[in-house]
Amino acid sequence: MAVGVFDSGLGGLTVLAALQHRLPQVPFVYYGDNANAPYGVRDAQDIYDLTTRAVQRLWDEGCDLVVLACNTASAAALKRMQETWIPADKRVLGVFVPLIEALTERQWGDNTPPREVGVKHVALFATPATVASRAFQRELAFRAIGVDVEAQPCGGVVDAIEAGDDILAEALVRSHVEALLRRMPRPDAAVLGCTHYPMMETVFRRALGPDVSVFSQPGLVAAALDDYLARRPEFVGAGTQTRYLTTGNPDSVSNHATRFLRRAVRFEAA
Ligand code: DGL
Repeated sequence: MAVGVFDSGLGGLTVLAALQHRLPQVPFVYYGDNANAPYGVRDAQDIYDLTTRAVQRLWDEGCDLVVLACNTASAAALKRMQETWIPADKRVLGVFVPLIEALTERQWGDNTPPREVGVKHVALFATPATVASRAFQRELAFRAIGVDVEAQPCGGVVDAIEAGDDILAEALVRSHVEALLRRMPRPDAAVLGCTHYPMMETVFRRALGPDVSVFSQPGLVAAALDDYLARRPEFVGAGTQTRYLTTGNPDSVSNHATRFLRRAVRFEAA
């Protein structure tokens, strides 16, 4: 056994890096569905079908617990998976809840009614599918009242990052931030709601200005998994092998991943 980490492509490596840093003793099996990325422009049924296929593959690999590092999968597929598909002896965790708990200053398992929180105006940057799902607003509404969310679907950013075109990615981030600030001129907080955006965190911060608190997921997800495994240690097994699986071409994905992470990574066919 090991813990599975799923993403539509390479972006989830930002989350994996934080998990490996925080939990160096845990073996992780990463699954990147590079052949079908990007998910952010797909419909909900498609995202559900692809995500369940990937999670099944990670279960076959001996992972009883899978982290959906992909926001689009967490937003568009996780609720339905939890309601109808995941067996009792397995767990699938998404990336939205840790983020929203941090934003609303809640501890895990605090199921008290929604209440007023420090932030009032939140800017959400995410893929078109994540924005369309309204999953962020739904999870937030369980925990907080009186928070205004303005969401910006950041078309093109993931493709530019995957293609290694940092100049285009930066220009797109700046224009998406400007578009959002025209609708919400003074957000208190901004959420980078996509695995790829931590790669552009400096550009987001600069465009948003110093008064906006930026919430980025990798560190928050790693802290949440650490906490979860302390409570449910049975979900990390005796496995010792970290593996990187892809539905894409392993050589080309390995090259991209090595550039993306700035360290050598070797992918195998999923
Ligand atoms: N991994 C996806 C996410 O976090 C972004 C990439 C995609 O569109 O597939 O939303």
